[in-house]
Amino acid sequence: MIRIENVTAGYGDGPNILHGIDLQADGREIVTILGPNGCGKSTLLKCIAGFVKPRGGRVVLNGTDLTPVPANEKVRKHRMGFVPQSDNIFRTLTVAENILMGARFLPKAERAAAVERQFLAYPSLAAKASRKASALSGGERQLLSLARALVAEPTVLLLDEPSAGLSPAMVHEVFGAIAEIRDRSGMCIVMVEQNAFEALGVADRAYVLALGQVALEGRAADLLADPAMRHLYLGGAPETVAVPA
Ligand SMILES: Nc1ncnc2c1ncn2[C@@H]1O[C@H](COP(=O)(O)OP(=O)(O)OP(=O)(O)O)[C@@H](O)[C@H]1O
Ligand SMILES: [Mg+2]
Repeated sequence: MIRIENVTAGYGDGPNILHGIDLQADGREIVTILGPNGCGKSTLLKCIAGFVKPRGGRVVLNGTDLTPVPANEKVRKHRMGFVPQSDNIFRTLTVAENILMGARFLPKAERAAAVERQFLAYPSLAAKASRKASALSGGERQLLSLARALVAEPTVLLLDEPSAGLSPAMVHEVFGAIAEIRDRSGMCIVMVEQNAFEALGVADRAYVLALGQVALEGRAADLLADPAMRHLYLGGAPETVAVPA
């Protein structure tokens, strides 16, 4: 379980971007973070991952305070997986080499089998194992960056806009893969998203940020049905949109 307690953060000498954020995500749960551009979603994820050091507050994983722990140690020792917002694959490497990069903290003898498990989970990547990553479609790249994080068998998975730039069908596929990971592994997943409707469809709970603060939080199904949420953040979408049970 990951818990964010009263986190404040900013960049360099600049003002605070996050103003006291509280958030919690349990195992076997997808928590989505929504909100307008520039409200601090990626900054919050970077605080959890260790790329931005909080100015105040704590990041706690399974009861251990990880606030001062640097990013690479969070991956290696605390099994945190982070897929950043910008395209993070190595274009000049093959699909298999990209996944192997994610396995670099595993014992050498286990790496090949770990990569093989990802290929079993994602046959579309297996079919292109020896292709250069630059030859993949946008959706395939998202799957590749997911597989690269998963190969290290994280207990917490942080995803920054996994559906960015994808067609509706591909969004469905990528979110399906993420839900599958939750159900199969019991992993704790924190996912920043712009596609609010689709994200609420797959998530268990959600936090809506505005100006670096939590403006709304709750069960995803409740937020989908909430008139204030619909009006402010979902563009007054029609009542006919299916609400998951
Ligand atoms: N490396 C940085 N240095 C200085 N300021 C930054 C840096 N990264 C982000 N910011 C600022 O912090 C604020 C929040 O940015 P952040 O990337 O967290 O927003 P976001 O909610 O993820 O937005 P988007 O939906 O566009 O991805 C913005 O005002 C941005 O300009
Ligand atoms: Mg962002």
